[in-house]
Amino acid sequence: MVSNSLIDPHGRKHNYLRISLTDHCNLRCFYCMPEEGIEFQEKSSYLTRSEIFEVAKTFVQLGVNKIRITGGEPLVRKRADEILRDLASLPIELAITTNGILLDRYLPLFKEIGLTNINVSLDSLNEEKNLLITKRDYYQKIRNNISLLLDEGITPKLNVVVMRDINQDEIIDFIELTKHSNLDVRFLEFMPFNGNKWKLEKCFSYQEILTEITNHYGDQINKLEDSFNSTSKNYKVSNYQGSFGIISSITNPFCEGCNRIRLTADGNLKNCLFSTEEFDILTPLREGSNIVPIIEDCLSNKKAVKAGIQTTDNNIETLEQNRSMISIGG
Ligand code: 5AD
Ligand code: SF4
Repeated sequence: MVSNSLIDPHGRKHNYLRISLTDHCNLRCFYCMPEEGIEFQEKSSYLTRSEIFEVAKTFVQLGVNKIRITGGEPLVRKRADEILRDLASLPIELAITTNGILLDRYLPLFKEIGLTNINVSLDSLNEEKNLLITKRDYYQKIRNNISLLLDEGITPKLNVVVMRDINQDEIIDFIELTKHSNLDVRFLEFMPFNGNKWKLEKCFSYQEILTEITNHYGDQINKLEDSFNSTSKNYKVSNYQGSFGIISSITNPFCEGCNRIRLTADGNLKNCLFSTEEFDILTPLREGSNIVPIIEDCLSNKKAVKAGIQTTDNNIETLEQNRSMISIGG
């Protein structure tokens, strides 16, 4: 049961908390991290292990039953293992979004605590292109780690940010991965954040992605049923083991089913990925005050659709005021 504190003015029940553990990362994807880098916070402004657990427990008491760990790259956070163990002790579904580089090291822990809901970000199946996008040479490591998950019987989701003239020519190659592997590939429309050089023309849209796929597979494409809170529209090619989905944050937002609230690594709540408004819970937490009123304030300010912001090219200044993705955390 979701308490009234987690219901926004549009009647949406927020049972899903996304916690960013850090804004550091071992990759430098240009669409996530501005080229000049970001200013990291003082160490003391990050939530500690016990503060994260305390906030998570408060949310669970209010009705949250799913927590996703994000970053930056969550697994580069010191003591990530202890934080994950803490969270796994709560009555929730625990999930993680990672770039996959450290998965081999963490897999034994994931198995022990039952963490099998794993999203891995991978934007190209071409080693050189991957280097261009991420600026670091980890492609083989990531591919090996995805295979490790599959060998363990885990069905990872692969997040692919589709960008025109960069990787839109790889959509079919990604779907072909699902022929013999139980993978769920998800194509994400490219979203604007501070310093990521977004342009509407660079966004390869849901419709364009689907047209490309339909031109290739024709009536072999089957629509799957989407859950109410699903951000992706899901499909499967006939007789393929895995599936694929499209997340159309720009052209076709899915805000009516939004059940997500975000906590940044530096202790701010965000009611929407597109919102520049933040609600500080670190200060009241350290003062020993009740954080529930801040959570309620955050929810009561949530707009119906995309923080009330138009995601069009001529609105780039507003869009760019938002933190970069690396410091929000997916
Ligand atoms: N547009 C779309 N998706 C993005 N991600 C990061 N930055 C962007 C962007 N600008 C994705 C990552 C990760 C997920 C949390 O968000 O690839 O998979
Ligand atoms: Fe939710 Fe905001 Fe994303 Fe819409 S844009 S789905 S309201 S987080």
